[in-house]
Amino acid sequence: MKAIIYTKPGDLDGLKIQEVSTPASNDDQVLIKVKACVLNVLDFTHFSNKNGKPSLSGKLTDRMTRIIGHPLGGEVAGIVKRVGKNVTRLKVGDPVFGVTPGALPSGGLAEYTVLDKDNVALKPAGLSFAQAAAATLMFQTALGALRKARVKSGDKVLVYGASGGVGQYVVQIAKAMGAEVTGVCSTRNVELAEEMGCTQVIDYKIQDFRKINTRFDVIIAVNGSADVKDLLGMLKSDGTLIPIGQHYTKALLRAPFNKHIATYSQPMAPQKDYLQAATKLADAGKLAPHVDHVWPVTEAKQAFEYALTQHVQGKIVIATDFSK
Ligand SMILES: NC(=O)c1ccc[n+]([C@@H]2O[C@H](COP(=O)([O-])OP(=O)(O)OC[C@H]3O[C@@H](n4cnc5c(N)ncnc54)[C@H](OP(=O)(O)O)[C@@H]3O)[C@@H](O)[C@H]2O)c1
Repeated sequence: MKAIIYTKPGDLDGLKIQEVSTPASNDDQVLIKVKACVLNVLDFTHFSNKNGKPSLSGKLTDRMTRIIGHPLGGEVAGIVKRVGKNVTRLKVGDPVFGVTPGALPSGGLAEYTVLDKDNVALKPAGLSFAQAAAATLMFQTALGALRKARVKSGDKVLVYGASGGVGQYVVQIAKAMGAEVTGVCSTRNVELAEEMGCTQVIDYKIQDFRKINTRFDVIIAVNGSADVKDLLGMLKSDGTLIPIGQHYTKALLRAPFNKHIATYSQPMAPQKDYLQAATKLADAGKLAPHVDHVWPVTEAKQAFEYALTQHVQGKIVIATDFSK
């Protein structure tokens, strides 16, 4: 089969389309023909090279995952081609979405990939393959964080970073839970944040969120741009802040000593429950994953460049059709 192989640490020119063996699936897995694969922050980290060099986290990830010579990408959607004998819920020909196995996602930027039975589900009928691939790990993070914060109907929820990969799902799921959602993003994304379900949007380019009068039951902050002290200042007296992402490492270390800070970090939890939750919301018309751009495999390098240099709206997806 063909795949986009990561051949050189930290170097986008090292992403090559190559012929490799089709992966073997076991009794607890399905083999799928990949139709769409998302570019995740776990994929960009190999290339975050402000100085033209691989980043430290990229180097560490390369070493830990021994990913050189393999395809990147782990959030996928496609068609089932082979079913392991212990997989009872799926059959050949089913359209599915899910997350590839491993400590970090890998193997998705290829013609075929394997998915463990607990990390795959039927694709929601109303979503395209690109949208379904985009509603996996980031959806899980958003739902996991909102469950951790015990969001309930009527709660006021602030989503700091409302138009990004995680934020778009926090907004849509919180709205579906009956919360009143305020989002923070820049001018060009205000309309998008409103479409997703924000009743109030703060444009951080022209407005200081610390100056608004609302106080929140729950704040989910996804991009590290806001100071934790400022975010805590916007909570109600019994409110909860969930900071997400590596930028908030210090805040996460403080969590055990501050009853207002909660943590959620479970990137590799079994996905089945989350995938089914995404399907339920999509089928009810309450989830519309926003895909910024779908790139052909031949332009994978441009897609990574775009992801590394632009403020992406929602997610970037590669259409894995190698025949074109
Ligand atoms: N723990 C886990 O399980 C887990 C799983 C997945 C992801 N993550 C982490 O989650 C984090 C979020 O990733 P992401 O892809 O959703 O988003 P992101 O790229 O970190 O953030 C995007 C959002 O932040 C806004 N934003 C950007 N700069 C801003 C600024 N200076 N002030 C205020 N808002 C700003 C963007 O709006 P504009 O574009 O309008 O500027 C957009 O709404 C990452 O750090 C990732 O590692 C964690």
